[in-house]
Amino acid sequence: EVRKEFRNVTSFYYQSAIDAAALQPSVRLTPAAILYSGKSPDQSHILRSCQYLHKELPVRIAHRINGFRNLPFIVGCHPTLLSVHELYIRAFHILSDFGPIRDLDQERQWSEALRNLLDDHKDVVTQLAEGFSECRKYVSDEILIKSFLDRTLTSRLGIRMLSEHHLALHDEKPNHVGIINVAFSPRKLVEKKADFIRGVCEAKYGAAPSVKINGHANATFPYIQPPLDYILGELLKNAMRASVESHLSGVGIPDVTVTIANNDHHFVFRISDRGGGIPAKIAKKVFDYNFTTSGSTTDDRVDGGIFGQIMQAEHTGPAPGKMHGYGFGLPTSRAYAQYLGGSLTLESLEGIGTDVYLRLSHIDGRSESFRI
Ligand SMILES: Nc1ncnc2c1ncn2[C@@H]1O[C@H](COP(=O)(O)OP(=O)(O)OP(=O)(O)O)[C@@H](O)[C@H]1O
Ligand SMILES: [Mg+2]
Repeated sequence: EVRKEFRNVTSFYYQSAIDAAALQPSVRLTPAAILYSGKSPDQSHILRSCQYLHKELPVRIAHRINGFRNLPFIVGCHPTLLSVHELYIRAFHILSDFGPIRDLDQERQWSEALRNLLDDHKDVVTQLAEGFSECRKYVSDEILIKSFLDRTLTSRLGIRMLSEHHLALHDEKPNHVGIINVAFSPRKLVEKKADFIRGVCEAKYGAAPSVKINGHANATFPYIQPPLDYILGELLKNAMRASVESHLSGVGIPDVTVTIANNDHHFVFRISDRGGGIPAKIAKKVFDYNFTTSGSTTDDRVDGGIFGQIMQAEHTGPAPGKMHGYGFGLPTSRAYAQYLGGSLTLESLEGIGTDVYLRLSHIDGRSESFRI
């Protein structure tokens, strides 16, 4: 039993297999390489994909374990953060204790273990948000926390995308190659997220703004949808919250407008709200992890209010479990956007509203691509 290895704190450090793996470089793939890797009737593409992950995932996990080891002691010892650290060590052993993957039978067993691990790790983002909200007051170095979280969260996103892709290769889903949707429609995704979050918003406030979509609403192209699911959800949640809270009478709640722009190299979502904008004195902080104004309102999100539950339903993607008012939405979304070769910027007109620009690169090789 892996659990037995964690009897004392030294077990977190003296692990030669992890040290050795942490010295190896990670091999990152372009989405085009994943997309065009080809499908063979004898399923050998699934075997190859598994062999790559079997080698690659322990290396990436070992790098993350190093990140936990290098946290300031007082942070690294926080019980919640220590339990995430332990989850990573456990994942390392489960995935690397398998011998070489030689046939589809071994592949099935390994993939089963991988699927279970994805499930065991589904709440990691919430756990990190919670842990840091409690112990970051002991650390004056904001950059240290930001770089730890940026790297841990984006690495986790990459691991989950590659893993979900591999698992999805077993299924036949129309228009999909693994997790890549070859006919991705930005408009459909915005409609789906808007519908969902409007429902939650109505349940909480008794009202919700409508969402209008304009621009290149008919564009379709190949893309990996799960990270956008998360980012657009967070941005719409913020825009709706501001719109409703600035019109608490419930009368005349202004629409949220999403503009889609698509060109050869990039595509952009602009999410515009008329929710009063962001006061100058906090504007600099909104991209800091754990910065939130939710505790200072009559907002029950911190106690697992309705906004908390919406993210709980989403742990199947790379999205976190519950994320209510921890101040993680914007910084996490920006880290994901940058990891995907894009950017997330915000323009606020104080007293009027906010425009958020999410810019992303296409994945079909027309321009230089990011790596997962
Ligand atoms: N569209 C917006 N209009 C006005 N204020 C905003 C908007 N988006 C973000 N903010 C401000 O920025 C803060 C940080 O946003 P962020 O999404 O990171 O965290 P949160 O929404 O408070 O919590 P979480 O996203 O983790 O549930 C918010 O608390 C809010 O004060
Ligand atoms: Mg938010």
